[in-house]
Amino acid sequence: MSQAPNLEELQRQALAELAQAGDAAALETWRVRYLGKKSVLIQTLRALGGLPPDERRAAGARANQLKVALESGFAERKRVVETLALAAGKEALDISLPGGPVLLGRLHPITAVVREICGIFMRMGFEIAEGPDVETDYYNFEALNIPADHPARDSFSTFWVERQAGSAGPPLLLRTHTSPVQIRVMEKRQPPVRVIAPGRVYRYEATDATHESMFYQIEGLAVDRGITMADLKGTLAQFARLFFGPERKTRFRCDYFPFVEPGMECAIDCFACGGKGCRMCGNSGWLEILGAGMVHPEVLRRVGIDPDVYTGFAFGMGVERMPILKYGIDDIRLFYSNDLRFLRQF
Ligand code: DAH
Repeated sequence: MSQAPNLEELQRQALAELAQAGDAAALETWRVRYLGKKSVLIQTLRALGGLPPDERRAAGARANQLKVALESGFAERKRVVETLALAAGKEALDISLPGGPVLLGRLHPITAVVREICGIFMRMGFEIAEGPDVETDYYNFEALNIPADHPARDSFSTFWVERQAGSAGPPLLLRTHTSPVQIRVMEKRQPPVRVIAPGRVYRYEATDATHESMFYQIEGLAVDRGITMADLKGTLAQFARLFFGPERKTRFRCDYFPFVEPGMECAIDCFACGGKGCRMCGNSGWLEILGAGMVHPEVLRRVGIDPDVYTGFAFGMGVERMPILKYGIDDIRLFYSNDLRFLRQF
């Protein structure tokens, strides 16, 4: 090579010309001139091998610097030109090509079931109520007639929540059921009350096919003058027919819950065997679906409602149990393991 090219001057000139390139053709011409095989830059890089080693290093560094400056300048200008072309409607993008498939999202099966169940009760005149997941001992137990020494506490394996160092207040826990929402609603308003309260509940239990440490419940509460067990039975029988099918029969049997008197469990006749007895119903012909009862006078008194004037009924159901029965799902953990092969079926 006769004389080393002035790379500074070359860079200035190249970038000035680049700034003038206004369309794809001009860009291509520029690229061939400054970055193409016959460009000064590439020729200079090629000639490096012929230089004495001590000159080679400095010249190589300078040429490389120029190469980086030109290449990044080109990429940047190309982006600008393409964006301007798109904005001007001379799109480089062929919008007539078919698009890629858009995946449709769907509701999680538990969300769908919560909505379906709440919808059934809302059509009967119930409103939605909510309460916090982190509760106090008072709402989760005390106000529901479950004092500290009550044996029923053992049936609720409780996650206790540690308070932050220095914060004082009543003991905190993750609610073990949605029943505390009954108390929060009745504290705030006078009867008539008709609410349904869906939400997460927590139990400190080993996880297996029938147990999760977090699951959903739906609580129901109706308080007014003259409410009787006939109202409770009618409401739940109607729910069972609307959710599980019009021919469903319901059965009520005595059970014990400290916050209701009398308390009961509600079952439906097994739709898998029509009540004859099968694997699903453990040969009993019946499937238990929820706990219920008439609100205990002591619970009403505590929230300032006179039990001599008002009566009420309450019920609580596990949500996962409903699709488990309805669709024959054999493992509760499937709902919370984020496996799309399972979730896509609903
Ligand atoms: N809270 C109870 C539980 O988690 C379920 C329950 C039973 C709720 C009877 C009620 C009821 O409202 O009346 O086991």
